[in-house]
Formats: sequence, structure tokens, C-alpha cells
Amino acid sequence: GDSSPKGPFVPTKADYQKVYDAVARRLADETDYDDGSYGPVLVRLAWHASGTYDKETGTGGSNGATMRFAPESDHGANAGLKTARDFLEPIKAQFPWITYSDLWTLGGACAIQELGGPSIPWRPGREDRDVAACTPDGRLPDAAKDQRHIRDIFSRMGFDDREMVALIGAHALGRCHTDRSGFDGPWNFSPTVFTNEFFRLLAEEKWVQKKWNGPTQFTDKTTGTLMMLPTDMALVKDKGFKKHVERYAKDSDAFFKEFSDVFVKLLELGVPFKTDDRIVFKTSDSE
Ligand code: HEM
Repeated sequence: GDSSPKGPFVPTKADYQKVYDAVARRLADETDYDDGSYGPVLVRLAWHASGTYDKETGTGGSNGATMRFAPESDHGANAGLKTARDFLEPIKAQFPWITYSDLWTLGGACAIQELGGPSIPWRPGREDRDVAACTPDGRLPDAAKDQRHIRDIFSRMGFDDREMVALIGAHALGRCHTDRSGFDGPWNFSPTVFTNEFFRLLAEEKWVQKKWNGPTQFTDKTTGTLMMLPTDMALVKDKGFKKHVERYAKDSDAFFKEFSDVFVKLLELGVPFKTDDRIVFKTSDSE
């Protein structure tokens, strides 16, 4: 028999690295989806799990993983995220000791790193909560709106202008789906590589309103195949936002550094951590 002392399993950094490695492996294996990667939708899951935070009441945020339950799973903003939650189920089965709330945020950190982004130091400590902790609908941003809405939503989470712009730079990744948000298309030609392309295109391309029956969105004049949301365009309409767009368009290092800091902050909003010690995960190609 096993002579080790009985008690709750206390995972080490090496155990979390094993979870990271399993997510990275699954990302590499499951390429028959969208542009070839589940990475972007994993980033979106981590963001929507965290972005419900309200600093006044301390409610919402990644602690709880309440998007497992209706009504939160059915909120319009979360359409399509079942794909990401289901993608992580085999990982949860393999490592049953990790909470969904830790797993979803770790999945987002892993996706950013595996898609070529900055390292996202991450720490565990989230606990899953039940349906009663679901947040009300309307806490996540509405892409049809303008800069006032962006400031309302993101200052409720505790972010300033610079942080808001950096965060939205994640739209270098992935695409919009008509059967999820109603919007359509990718923001750039390499939607599975984390870059500052979102800002470069926003600053340098000419964007015109797309002619179609769907919701108002914008398309690049040069190729007519890329897209920007109304909220993306607000980042160059507003002077306070635009200076950061132009800075990130020119300075990829600054974007990577500032994105990392603010994404770490996003994933930790409202979480009562017991440790200050973050894990810097080893990316799969750095071995
Ligand atoms: C996708 C809106 C901020 C990461 C999308 C989509 C919309 C949207 C409408 C398309 C969903 C679909 O049809 O599949 C917004 C708005 C934001 C915002 C209005 C703020 C004003 C952010 C932030 C992040 C993020 C802060 C992460 C830090 C992503 C990613 C995708 C995405 C990675 C691609 C998902 C995929 O390919 O399936 N966003 N977003 N977004 N968003 Fe945002």
C-alpha cells in the first residue's frame, strides 16, 4: 500500500505546469477548427469569465466559473464559449483537482503564450462557486457601442485608458462568427499568432463601413476581407485612446509588456489569493 500521509492533494508549480502542457498539447493536436486553433476562443473564455468583475461590489470575476450555469452561459455575449469550455473538459478530467476557474484562466494564459504572445505569469487560488454567484447580464462590452461605453464597462473593472487599449489588442487573435455575435471575419491575416497587427492595421489602414445586412462593422479598403467592430474604431476616434493605439502600432515590445501586465490583472480581479507567488509557465517550444 501507499505509505504517504493522507490529506488533500496540494498541487505544486510542477503540477500546474503539467496542466499547461496538457492544454498546449491539445491546442497543437486539435487543429481542425476555425483558422486552425482553439487558442483564440480560449482567450475569449478567460476574458469573459474575468470581465464580469465589479470593483464596487466585489462581485463577478474569474473566481467561481459561474459561466458553467444558465443564465450566465446563455448571456448573448457568451455565445460560442461552450466550444472553449468543452475543449477544456478532457483536461479537467485528467486533472480533477484543478478548479474550473483556475483552469479557464490558465487556459487563456496558455493560449496567449502558445500563440506567440508574451509570458502570462499566473497564480492559482480560485474556487468554483454555484449558480447563485452568476452575474447579471450586461457586464461585458457591447461591440455596437462607442468610447463612452468602453470607459463605463472597463472602469467598472478598475482599468484606465491605457489598460483598456492594451486589452482590446487581443483582437489580433481569432475572428467574429455570424452565428455567435452576428459580426463576421478576422481582424488580420494571421489570427492564430499574437502580434500588434490589430493596432498597426487600425492606425494605418483606411476602414470603411461594410455593405451588408448584418450589424454595422468596418472593412479595410485595401482587401475588403478584414474587419473592425464599432468599439475597435472608437479606439482611433477618441484622442485619449488613439495615442496608445499609435504607440502600440509602432512598438511591439511595449504592447507585449503592457498586454501581459493588464491580462494578468484581468485574470486576477476579485480573487482572494493566498499567495503572491506567480508561476511563469514554460512555453511548449522553449524546451
Ligand atoms: C472576439 C467584442 C474586448 C478577446 C470578439 C467578438 C466580439 C468581441 C463581438 C466576436 C465573437 C464571435 O462572434 O465569435 C469585444 C468588445 C470588446 C472586446 C466589444 C471591448 C470593447 C476583448 C478583450 C479581449 C478580447 C479585452 C481579451 C483580452 C477576444 C478574442 C476573440 C474575440 C480572442 C476571438 C474569439 C474567437 O476567435 O472565437 N470580441 N471584445 N476581446 N475577443 Fe473581444
